[in-house]
Amino acid sequence: MKAIVLEKFGGPEVLTLRDVDAPKAGPDDIVIQVETTAVNRADLLERQGHYPPPDPKPRYQIPGLECAGIVVEKGDRVTKFSLGDKILALLPGGGYAEYVTCPEDLAWKMPQGLTWVEGGAIPEVFLTAFDALWDKAGLMPGDRVLIHAAAGGVGSAAVQLAVRAGLQVVATTGTAQKVAFVKTLGADLVVNYREQDFVQEVQEWSGGRGVHAVIDFIGKDYLTRNLKAMAAGGTLVVVGTLSGVDAPLDLREILGRRLTVRGTALRSRPRPDKMRLVQDFADRTTTDFVTGKLRPIIDRVLPLDQVSDAHRLLAGNQTMGKLVLAVKAQESGESLEAPH
Ligand SMILES: NC(=O)c1ccc[n+]([C@@H]2O[C@H](COP(=O)([O-])OP(=O)(O)OC[C@H]3O[C@@H](n4cnc5c(N)ncnc54)[C@H](OP(=O)(O)O)[C@@H]3O)[C@@H](O)[C@H]2O)c1
Repeated sequence: MKAIVLEKFGGPEVLTLRDVDAPKAGPDDIVIQVETTAVNRADLLERQGHYPPPDPKPRYQIPGLECAGIVVEKGDRVTKFSLGDKILALLPGGGYAEYVTCPEDLAWKMPQGLTWVEGGAIPEVFLTAFDALWDKAGLMPGDRVLIHAAAGGVGSAAVQLAVRAGLQVVATTGTAQKVAFVKTLGADLVVNYREQDFVQEVQEWSGGRGVHAVIDFIGKDYLTRNLKAMAAGGTLVVVGTLSGVDAPLDLREILGRRLTVRGTALRSRPRPDKMRLVQDFADRTTTDFVTGKLRPIIDRVLPLDQVSDAHRLLAGNQTMGKLVLAVKAQESGESLEAPH
């Protein structure tokens, strides 16, 4: 099969297509013919040698944390799927390829009516956002949440999930175009962090009460301000560290206002936790994807052999929503135009 294999680490140019052996299904695994996959920030780190795949180590190091595709082979103990099923999957890696294998518990049926391009844009960002809002922050309808990087893949998924669940949402992003886009997702207030002070905006918007949770991807530069934007008893969920990792912390902020700081990481967590998350997510969101109440946001679609360009675009903060890679979908005649 064709796959993007990491034979050395470095810049986007190390991402080259080559022929390798296709994977085989273990007893609890399915083999998926990949129609689409998508690019994640973690792939950029993996390409640079900073984010190795979890054990058991694969034969080839192929990035790619998600896919939409068709079940073409299954292990003896697989019960959930039949050959030919259209599915979405959260992968430990290996998605930048024509075929990939994963445990059946990390896959679920693709919501009806979605295209392959839309399906491939869902798993990693929506699962991360779902986990951060409900499991990590424990938010309830009516709560106030601050979501950073809100035009990005995870941020735009989090805004949609939060709005759909009846939360009050304030979001930040860095350009006028992105502000306008995030407003279309239903956020109550969108702050351009380059022009406005988000702590001040949050406090004015909330009548000085602050937010019950912050979903943060920025890390270092935002830590102090995130704590100041929070209500007493609030939770900061650290999902990413785009500005850096070493941040000064005044512990009195946490102690005095009984704040919680929680981290989350999808790829490295134990498989039973991932299985529970995937199942819960599939049960609670499939209908909303079918009816269009939730929608994958696609910046653009590129063929797999242009993955280097996709990495450059993501690293340049130029995207809104997801960069989808067409692996097989291209051949089956599906348009590579983004659907919006
Ligand atoms: N913990 C997990 O399991 C998990 C899972 C998935 C993703 N993540 C992490 O979550 C983060 C976001 O992922 P994503 O897929 O949403 O990425 P994305 O689509 O590339 O969006 C990230 C956006 O963040 C903004 N940004 C970048 N650097 C910034 C900075 N220094 N200060 C302020 N804003 C900055 C940029 O938008 P603006 O133009 O608005 O600045 C950028 O487009 C990444 O760090 C990723 O690794 C973690």
